[in-house]
Amino acid sequence: KMGWTGSNERTFISVKPDGVQRRLVGEIVHRFERKGFKLVGMKLLQASAEQLREHYRDLSEKPFYSSLVKYMSSGPIVVMAWQGHDVVKSARKMLGETNPADSLPGTIRGDFCVEVSRNVVHGSDSVESAQREISLWFEHHELLCWEECSQPWIY
Ligand code: PPS
Repeated sequence: KMGWTGSNERTFISVKPDGVQRRLVGEIVHRFERKGFKLVGMKLLQASAEQLREHYRDLSEKPFYSSLVKYMSSGPIVVMAWQGHDVVKSARKMLGETNPADSLPGTIRGDFCVEVSRNVVHGSDSVESAQREISLWFEHHELLCWEECSQPWIY
């Protein structure tokens, strides 16, 4: 591996409908690329309410559950799988806090949004959630393991 101590950890990131509408897809992809993570899956889609209810099933008792599902199905979203060392934790740092008002400048939410109900981006909260979410949104063949045939990772 020529000194590369990379990890195979993956996380699920989505650009929510407000992020797509506001042309923030490139900005968000750019941040993950510059950080040094590796894109292993990405597509634009219009999510169904069924998929979103499953994605957010742990929140089904929350008062905002139905409005969250409605918002997330209101326009196209971009779903992505990113890979790298401690990527779940690092991605959450890069996103900022769930409530944009608590997010520091320099984070995606800190820089680009003001309301929790329009917070631009989603990121898995644990390795287990990431595995569940990636398998919910991607077919196996849509995830590419391309490190084996490319150059050693350069940070
Ligand atoms: S909680 O209450 O602690 O479970 O919520 P939290 O983990 O902070 O957030 C889970 C997701 O719910 C979204 N959320 C909301 N959406 C709409 N309205 C309100 N008030 C609201 N509060 C939380 C929040 O953005 C999280 O979505 P994801 O997609 O995971 O970022």
